[in-house]
Amino acid sequence: MTKQAGLRLAELLSVAEQDIVFTDSGAAALTLALRAVRRTADDEVLLPTFACPRILDAVQAADLTPVLCDVDDTGNIDAEDVRARLSTCSRAVIAGHTFGLPADLGALRDLCAETGLHLIDDAAQTLGTSFQGKPVGTWGSYGILSFGRHKPVFAGGGGALVRTGGPTVTAGRTAPTGWAAGAGSVARACFLDALRSVSSSLPVRLGLQPVPSGDVPAVMERAVTRMDLHASLPWVGAAFLVDQLTRLDRYQRRQQRHLARVRTAVEGHPELRFPALATRQAVNFLALHCSPQRRHNIAAHLSRAGVETTWLYYPLHRVRRYTHAWVNRGSFPGAENLWPRTLCVPCRGWHSDAQIDRLIDGLTTAGTRRSVTYG
Ligand SMILES: Cc1ncc(COP(=O)(O)O)c(C=O)c1O
Repeated sequence: MTKQAGLRLAELLSVAEQDIVFTDSGAAALTLALRAVRRTADDEVLLPTFACPRILDAVQAADLTPVLCDVDDTGNIDAEDVRARLSTCSRAVIAGHTFGLPADLGALRDLCAETGLHLIDDAAQTLGTSFQGKPVGTWGSYGILSFGRHKPVFAGGGGALVRTGGPTVTAGRTAPTGWAAGAGSVARACFLDALRSVSSSLPVRLGLQPVPSGDVPAVMERAVTRMDLHASLPWVGAAFLVDQLTRLDRYQRRQQRHLARVRTAVEGHPELRFPALATRQAVNFLALHCSPQRRHNIAAHLSRAGVETTWLYYPLHRVRRYTHAWVNRGSFPGAENLWPRTLCVPCRGWHSDAQIDRLIDGLTTAGTRRSVTYG
C-alpha cells in the first residue's frame, strides 16, 4: 500500500518514486531536509513569520538558527524581504505557501540560485497545486508534504520528503547584481564567499562535526529528536492517502464551484473582501479579509450560524515561547497588517453544498440587521 501511495504521489508531482521518503509528519520531513543541508549550528534558515509554528520547531529540531522574514499580501514569504535579511550564515529559505496559495517560487528560486542557498519548497498546505505549470513541492532542493489535519490531502497524519535537487547546491555564490554593483562589490562578494566557505567547512575539517550528508536514510540514522524516528507510513495511513489522492481531482473541481459561490456572496458585501486568486487556484483555507475592528464580531456571528473561522496563524515573532529563538533583523509590517484582518472560512472540496449554503448565509447576514437576531 505504501508503494502505491508513493507511486501516486510521484505521478502527481512528476518526480521519481524513489525520491519520495515517507515520514511521521510534515515537520519530520522538514527536519530531515534541514539536517541534510546543515553545515553548522550557525547556519541560518529564513522562514516566514506568518506560518505554521511547526516550521520553526523543525528549524530548531535540526539545530539551525531561524531568521524570521516578512510576508507579502498573500501571507507568503517575501523574496525581497528575504534578500534584505541575508547574512554570510544564510543557508536555506523555506517557502510555506500559507493558506495553500503558492509563494512566488520563481523569485525565491532565482534568489536562492543567485546566493547559493537551498530552497525548501514546503507544500504541506499545497499538495496538488502548481505554480507556473510546475507542481508546488518540486521547486527547491527538497519538497515537504504533510498528510495531517487541515491539509489538502488528509490521511490521518504522516508526511513525506521529496528530494528534488538537494543537496547538490553549493553554498556561497553571491553574484553582483550588474555593473552598478561595481568592481568593489565584486571583490567584496568573492572575499565573503571565500571566507564563508572556509569558516563553514572548518568544524568538519577539525573533526568537530560530521561531514554533511544529503543521503536521506543516512541523515535519518543520525536522528536524535522525536521528530524523525520513522521513515514510513502506517498501512492504514497509506490506504487513506491512496484513497484521498484518488479523490483529489473531484475535490478540486468541487472546491472551484464552492469558491465561485462564496466569491459572488462576498463581492457585494461592504465589510468583506475576497482574496485575489488565479484562475482555478485551489486553496487550503479560504482567507477572506475584513477590518480588524470588525473581525471578531463577524467571526462571532459566523460561529452562531454554525461556521467556524480562524486566523490560521498568529505571527511567530509574536509567540512568546519563541522569543529569543530567532534572529531579529527588522520589523514585520506585512505580517502585522495581514493577520488581524484575516478571516479564514471553511471552503474545501469535501464540503457539501449544504455546508457552503450555511457559510454563505452567515457571510451575507454578517454586518446586516439580520445578524443581530443571532445574538
Ligand atoms: C507549511 C507547513 N509546513 C509544515 C507543517 C507541519 O506538518 P505536520 O503537522 O504534518 O507536522 C505544517 C502544518 O500545519 C504546515 O502548514
